[in-house]
Amino acid sequence: MSTGRNIPEEVIEAVLLHHDIVDTVSRHVHLTKQGKYLKGLCPFHSEKTPSFTVTPDRQIFHCYGCGAGGNAIKFRMEMEGLSFPEAVKLMAEEAHIPFTDLNGSAAAPHNPELDALLQANEWSAKLYHFLLKNTEHGKQAMDYLKGRGIGDRLIDRFGIGYAPARWDTLVQFLDKRSFDLSAMEKGGLLSAKNDGTGFVDRFRDRVMFPIYNRSGKVIAFAGRILGEGQPKYLNSPESRLFSKSRTLYNLHQSKNEIRKKRQVVIFEGFGDVISAWEAGVHNSVATMGTALTESHAAILKSTCDEAIVCYDGDRAGQSAAMKSIPILEGAGFKVRIALLAEGLDPDEYIRKYGGERFLSQVIEGAVSAVKFKLIYLKKNHILLEEAGKVAYIREAIEVIAPLPSPTEREIYLKELSADLQVSFDSLKQECNQFRHDMQKNRADGDNNANWWNTGRHKKRQSEAPVLLPAYHVAERRLLSFMLQDDEVASYVSEHLGDQFNIKEHAAIAAYLYAYYAQGKTPDVSRFVSSLQDEKLEKVVSSIAVMDTPLEWSVQELDDCIKEIRKVPLKSSIDRKKEEMIAAEKAGDFLTAAQIASEIIALERQ
Ligand code: GTP
Ligand code: MN
Repeated sequence: MSTGRNIPEEVIEAVLLHHDIVDTVSRHVHLTKQGKYLKGLCPFHSEKTPSFTVTPDRQIFHCYGCGAGGNAIKFRMEMEGLSFPEAVKLMAEEAHIPFTDLNGSAAAPHNPELDALLQANEWSAKLYHFLLKNTEHGKQAMDYLKGRGIGDRLIDRFGIGYAPARWDTLVQFLDKRSFDLSAMEKGGLLSAKNDGTGFVDRFRDRVMFPIYNRSGKVIAFAGRILGEGQPKYLNSPESRLFSKSRTLYNLHQSKNEIRKKRQVVIFEGFGDVISAWEAGVHNSVATMGTALTESHAAILKSTCDEAIVCYDGDRAGQSAAMKSIPILEGAGFKVRIALLAEGLDPDEYIRKYGGERFLSQVIEGAVSAVKFKLIYLKKNHILLEEAGKVAYIREAIEVIAPLPSPTEREIYLKELSADLQVSFDSLKQECNQFRHDMQKNRADGDNNANWWNTGRHKKRQSEAPVLLPAYHVAERRLLSFMLQDDEVASYVSEHLGDQFNIKEHAAIAAYLYAYYAQGKTPDVSRFVSSLQDEKLEKVVSSIAVMDTPLEWSVQELDDCIKEIRKVPLKSSIDRKKEEMIAAEKAGDFLTAAQIASEIIALERQ
């Protein structure tokens, strides 16, 4: 997702100026002062001893434990699951900074029409909830919910309500509060009468599930019929507040747990989320009766790394799960799929077997995406017939062969061999043949390295500077000076340029040169927001929290530069040594002697 490039820089700067990092973080983390830093327990991973730091001087945060880091905007994005433009917009509103994006469409800090609709949604949710719990109207719906195992506690937690079997409950309610009824119709709470003479309630005689946005505001409803009937669910229409493809049910309540566990469980239905909550699954969301979209995946990816897809056990559910895999892997998730027996949906499973078994067998027993694909493909073939077996093996090899890890390939091939009673060696041979063809195809034109490996997730590595090689330390030190002083940056630009050995460092240096070239002053927090690259942001914040003195000397810079330049020198010395040995072995002593003198010259440098 390319985000935020169209937000004017002045807005970003004003936002950073108004939102002090300490104030921003303190709202969520208890900080204690330690010299120039403040320390606390990291809100982004679970820990018992504080490794989360805030540096007011530089207006950044950084966690030594999980590597999270950045400026105040980044903190809000992570904490509240917002995209960059969303966070900037929200923070601009809070500080009463006029916000317009460069497309000229004024996203005014206050849009009275949207505010009114939000207000109406909130009050309607309260009304429905009240009617369910406290009135005769709600009795039947209450019985229905109880019958499904949804008691008072869950009703309150999920704000569930009831819309009575009348045409004007909400019309009256909203009218009395002077809402513009035609705006309410556009927002999906009311329907226009066919003859154009007024409005009626959209939701009648339905159990009402409020749909909340990430910040916990009601933006829509899903109304379920009591018992059988069509449509089973009636949703609010798409509106400026509500877009199905970007909304995830329950995210407002689960985002913290998702972040702590670094894992999300994705369901298909509201009922599943609610039952699973009772069973102890508090890191779950559901899509809104639509297939999972890339936007959904991107929204979730800002909070965690692992997704467990827990769809219905029937054919449709499994096929939807299959389709979700590339979307989630494409967003960088490690994906597992939960398997439900007997075609049950999660809610039915929990009611039949209980929450504990659901947790231990279904959720914890979720299988890898590869394993799931094999199970899924297998169902399409009649394995008692040779042709069916052969066809399945072909498809299975297509899934297994692209796996980068030989161990992983071997494990799946062994399973396949045992499962089908086909020799392991022949499977392995087929697999190798497939890999060979794959590589050849790639060499013939497709230079997109590792194309079969897209979306596989690299292990998180923490940025903690433990026992780094000397050149690495020197590069970090140099960048740290450069972040604080544009004079250092221009010195380094002249004497080292882009010759950093670590490619992230080279990238940061390049961005810094560009940043200063625009006449900007040193400011880590501002610089970070110009990067828009998670990896680089983390590296910068980890460098900026280093205790680098403000004073520097040319001697010190030169020492660092020397250390950094040694590396390519050292690797060319190593290469020459190898060449020399090869020449000696070949009996070409003249060449060997010549290379030796080159080595000595290089070592002098
Ligand atoms: P229960 O029968 O109440 O347990 O519902 P469920 O959540 O198990 O529903 P189901 O598995 O049939 O469908 C999954 C999701 O698809 C639901 O949660 C809804 O979001 C959506 N859905 C199902 N039926 C309808 C419908 O008739 N209309 C719309 N708009 N969405 C539906
Ligand atoms: Mn169900």
